[in-house]
Amino acid sequence: MFEKFSLVPPDPILKLIVEHKNDTRSNKIDLGVGVFRDASGKTPIMGVVKEAERYLLDTQQSKAYIGLAGDADFNLAMQNLILDQSVTDDRFATIQTAGGSTSLRVAIELIRKSTKDLTVWVSEPTWNNHIPILDSVGVNVDIYPYYDVINNQLNFEGFIECLNNIPSGDVVLLHACCHNPTGMDPTPEQWQEITEVIAKRKIIPLIDNAYQGLANGLSEDAFAIKLMAEKVDEMLIASSCSKNFGLYRDRAGTLTIVSENAKTNLHARSHALKIIRTMCSVPPDHGCAVVSHILNNNELRDRWIIELGEVKDRLKEMRVLLNQALNDRTADFDSSHLTKANGMFSYLGVNSEQVQEMKIKHGVYMEGAGRINLAGITKENVNALADAIIDVL
Ligand SMILES: Cc1ncc(COP(=O)(O)O)c(C=O)c1O
Repeated sequence: MFEKFSLVPPDPILKLIVEHKNDTRSNKIDLGVGVFRDASGKTPIMGVVKEAERYLLDTQQSKAYIGLAGDADFNLAMQNLILDQSVTDDRFATIQTAGGSTSLRVAIELIRKSTKDLTVWVSEPTWNNHIPILDSVGVNVDIYPYYDVINNQLNFEGFIECLNNIPSGDVVLLHACCHNPTGMDPTPEQWQEITEVIAKRKIIPLIDNAYQGLANGLSEDAFAIKLMAEKVDEMLIASSCSKNFGLYRDRAGTLTIVSENAKTNLHARSHALKIIRTMCSVPPDHGCAVVSHILNNNELRDRWIIELGEVKDRLKEMRVLLNQALNDRTADFDSSHLTKANGMFSYLGVNSEQVQEMKIKHGVYMEGAGRINLAGITKENVNALADAIIDVL
């Protein structure tokens, strides 16, 4: 049986991690992998997470399976975080998933179960796991224009024009904030326009909410989600707690289903649960139990908001610092887009040869298309980084 398999090439980002690890240069810089790093280069465990874990260690009485939909307190707290209100409306259902990736997978399985021949539209470019997840479910995939690589800005006209031609009933996969890989998000006014077209044309939004709180604040970052939830009949929201709680390996997330009425919601939810049952039987508990304890405890929640604010501010500070360091060196390279983008990532504005050259010559590691993780920058390495960029430009 197995002799039929050829070797699957390694995931580019995982390959990059290995290359960086094996690089013996002491001044190497890792701007590749998508995890937060603090000013000392570490990926810390949040203080509130440690405290919630201690609480669970002391109080948890059983490791018996949790229910298929996960923990109701966690689901409600997450739903309130996303929709920013005390939601009692029975058009919404939130279920626990093993991180954002599983949520996306369940959402797409659900979409495919409902309609076999629709297309899911993704931004060009998009997170490098979106298309593989869509392909593995077997839905049609197409792309909508999103980013203008020449001018390092949103291609808003192209985006809207494409939306205006997407058939009704198709699904559009949107990034709620901190677009991965470009960091460039629509403005609130642009989101209004996007929402109008989506509502008018009865397109179904699937919103990937992986970075809430890392752009401009918890409520601000959910602007598009809240707006669309008001205006459209049906939508799906895949949320991740990997980045905003730093719980990457603990696999915490939710899927929120928005539908026309209570009956359709109940039915859609039951199918999502059936998908989860065959996928992992029941969702994992630990990360979600940590989040639930934090969100349902006023003191811990307040402290989490402060800690998350520090993550957001550090990313913003590194954007300003790199832009400044580049401006100090040349007037020929406009890097102002770095300070207009949000969250962990930006396209630097270099080509793939320059990316390779930076790796080989300077030990600076980034994804092939020139996506950088701002969290890999520190006050200590920013000047060397700017020198390396100028050298390859
Ligand atoms: C845009 C986007 N969506 C979803 C995810 C999935 O996150 P998780 O680790 O929770 O599966 C990521 C993680 O990098 C991401 O960047």
